[in-house]
Amino acid sequence: MPSLPLRVALYPGSFDPLTMGHVDIIQRGSALFDTIIVAVLENVSKEPLFTVKERIEMIQDTFKTSDNVEAAAFSGLLVEYAAARKASTIVRGIRAISDFEYEFQMALMNRRLAPTIETVFMMPAEEYSYVSSRIVKEVASLGGKVTGLVPEGVEARLLERVRER
Ligand code: PNS
Repeated sequence: MPSLPLRVALYPGSFDPLTMGHVDIIQRGSALFDTIIVAVLENVSKEPLFTVKERIEMIQDTFKTSDNVEAAAFSGLLVEYAAARKASTIVRGIRAISDFEYEFQMALMNRRLAPTIETVFMMPAEEYSYVSSRIVKEVASLGGKVTGLVPEGVEARLLERVRER
């Protein structure tokens, strides 16, 4: 019997830094797909707290025991990178209705550009529904505790980085 093609999903984003909301989506995705590639956007216009290399290291470190989770950098059009990696699905997390408008717009544009690539929306656990990289960075930079909202390794790097600034 011919073997089924591998189901590769791409989970793109800035991940500056990885939060427990992202971790939750990656875990759910890794149970559904043969491989999930966490694709970190090299965005020259944003001013990130962590370099792309650091962000990838934090993702790799968090998922070092998961065989089917990979982290990589990408630039340019997401759908082109998805095609190059033979990913048939783009995964995005939706925390609240407020996320939906932007995500819907992006998903439909991506479908127009690459009709065979499907976007799948996934919901993180409710306990992470308010968590974002932006809010975590803001709280950490003002001395607030972010324990439990980011993986332990990320928390350590975050505290170090905000102390340096
Ligand atoms: O976590 P973010 O910052 O909301 O992720 C946004 C991301 C990386 C998914 C989006 O900006 C993206 O796909 N950028 C790549 C450029 C592209 O393909 N743009 C057209 C998408 S409609």
